Amino acid sequence: MGMRILVIGSGGREHAIVRSLAASPLVEIVLVAPGNGGTALEPNAVNTPLATEDPNAVASFASDNEVDLVVVGPEAPLVAGVADAVRDLGVPVFGPGASGARVEGSKSFAKELMERHGLPTGRALTFDALDREAAIATVRAWGAPIVIKADGLAAGKGVTVAMDVDTAIAAVEECLEGRFGEAGTHVLVEEYLQGPECSMLAFVCGRTMLPMEPVQDHKRVGDGDTGPNTGGMGVYSPVPLVTPAEHATMVEIMQEAAHALADEGIEYRGVLYGGFILTEAGPKLLEFNARFGDPETQVVLPRLKTDLAEVLLACAEGRLEGTKLEWRDDVAVSVVLASEGYPGFYETGKVITGIEEAEQVQGVSVYHAGTTLDVDGTLRTAGGRVLNVTALASDFSLARERAYEAARRIHFEGAFCRSDIGLRALRERD
Ligand code: GLY
Repeated sequence: MGMRILVIGSGGREHAIVRSLAASPLVEIVLVAPGNGGTALEPNAVNTPLATEDPNAVASFASDNEVDLVVVGPEAPLVAGVADAVRDLGVPVFGPGASGARVEGSKSFAKELMERHGLPTGRALTFDALDREAAIATVRAWGAPIVIKADGLAAGKGVTVAMDVDTAIAAVEECLEGRFGEAGTHVLVEEYLQGPECSMLAFVCGRTMLPMEPVQDHKRVGDGDTGPNTGGMGVYSPVPLVTPAEHATMVEIMQEAAHALADEGIEYRGVLYGGFILTEAGPKLLEFNARFGDPETQVVLPRLKTDLAEVLLACAEGRLEGTKLEWRDDVAVSVVLASEGYPGFYETGKVITGIEEAEQVQGVSVYHAGTTLDVDGTLRTAGGRVLNVTALASDFSLARERAYEAARRIHFEGAFCRSDIGLRALRERD
């Protein structure tokens, strides 16, 4: 009998994880809670309703349904302690417990961890509402540009890169006055660092750290990095602008991060996502996330040759040491198709067509991010980021051509995408 795996989440990241797991000869079935229109259509996968941020509900479901492995996609269930509850019932789980998830759930905890263990990062100070005047004095003393961050999980909206002092002070006040609820009871005033950003995700199991290939996101909604920030409008991997020396430093920092967590008594089993900035003084950490990135996963996993189920189970069972990751030579580009209005207000319920035609383009996989499937089989939009069109090819030029040719075959009212995803891979570093 093959493995029964429960995947928690409903985005493009989870669809990519589910597709890789369902393709493994080791896997009998993947249960997805709650899943989306794409996971509903995957052979060997079944969507199931579940209170995914309730640790006891997830643990009981996994135990009652004889699940062999739970894979937690998003950060909120990890911060809520879902992995701890599942592990306590004796079910292997891929994803850190609440103590490890603090690297993402509390930016001040992450900064202090980096500082305690000498991991390179910008300087930062943390303030609460009683320290409002001290926070503002720090902003004035350090000057702009400067970065203001809500301490807790703020759905990607808690960071302001302020180019002038007034904007920074307004961001401090907004945060401490409760704009981000619990997430903003503390605010970080942080040094602004300059350079290209890029991420390195790693499988971490205690002191064992296996780096994945670097990846670069496109956070702004518009071409040329214009307009408001989004959850990510497209990605590519690997990242040619990362020099071999920078790559080696990033790997070293991720290894030291795994040791730092272990030294703090945290038994970390999951993805540690290092968000880096490549400064003139070398790569520095901007942040950690406690999970696979979205949409980073949609280019990393299609390039991974090693059986994902085997890697995730080994990590969950504390025996990752000795595992080797193998990568395809092909590069990957993924373009996000979004709903008109995103990242502001957008309508949902638009009929989607053309996905089968898109997947006929060589090397293309379409991952669903915000979709639902009606009982009659009609696929509809259900989110701001709707689909991730990923293309593999021997070079970035061809991967871009394939991704955009596939994207043109997909239709829903108000669909849009950036037209410059992956172009940076073809250019010299600025
Ligand atoms: N794409 C950024 C993230 O997953 O946090």
